[in-house]
Amino acid sequence: MVGPSALPFSKQSRTPVELTIDEIREIQESFRVATIRAREAGFQWVEFHAAHGYLAHSFYSPLSNKRGDKYGGSFENRIRFTLETVRSMRREWPEELPFSVHLSCSDWVEGGWTIEDSIELSKRLKTEGVDLIDCSFGGNAIDAKIPVGAGYQVPFAEAIRQSAEMLTAAVGMITKGMQADELIRNGRADLVLLGREMLRDPYWPLRAAQEVHQKDALPVPPQYERAW
Ligand SMILES: Cc1cc2nc3c(=O)[nH]c(=O)nc-3n(C[C@H](O)[C@H](O)[C@H](O)COP(=O)(O)O)c2cc1C
Repeated sequence: MVGPSALPFSKQSRTPVELTIDEIREIQESFRVATIRAREAGFQWVEFHAAHGYLAHSFYSPLSNKRGDKYGGSFENRIRFTLETVRSMRREWPEELPFSVHLSCSDWVEGGWTIEDSIELSKRLKTEGVDLIDCSFGGNAIDAKIPVGAGYQVPFAEAIRQSAEMLTAAVGMITKGMQADELIRNGRADLVLLGREMLRDPYWPLRAAQEVHQKDALPVPPQYERAW
């Protein structure tokens, strides 16, 4: 297991080995060739996962990155891994297809990564050709105090959308059609993503379309059309 610094997530966690510069290059190259494979396999959307304590997040968060080289220390150095990786991936991904980045917009810990940092990083990512930020948070600190509740991550999508002028996706405990509709209609996010609610109810899009009086927007199998 590797990371920017030899720091375990918790007392029970294994301690990662600090990556060398050559190993960082190898990982970045793997992301680049994975993008080519995704393109050749016919995928229509690529997202770079830089949230939830995964590698890119542990590079940009000051909690997990204590490096003394150009990949650690200052904000500029900590975001270098993400920016360089995205740059090399974006080159391989067709201009007309969406490329998004999943960010943990806050570590929710004193001295950790903040929403202001995320806004600044989003501005840089926009200049790298990123189309949308998928706004999540946390996953990098065992002692984070997270105020979980309906739509609890929406303010991040809203803040990045306004301050970085970047398209954003809201995610996390969005469960009602009206709730999703309100987010888009009031310009708080450009896209709503659902996880658990789609597992609980695979017909969610149909129900939500009815709830917001948009049922004609979804295709219906011909045999049901007359009764729809
Ligand atoms: C128990 C659980 C485990 C999850 N594990 C991961 C994970 O390993 N990687 C990841 O990118 N997202 C993970 N997620 C986040 C989901 O991919 C998704 O973004 C989230 O559940 C969306 O919020 P919602 O389910 O409230 O709609 C997890 C979510 C839950 C509830």
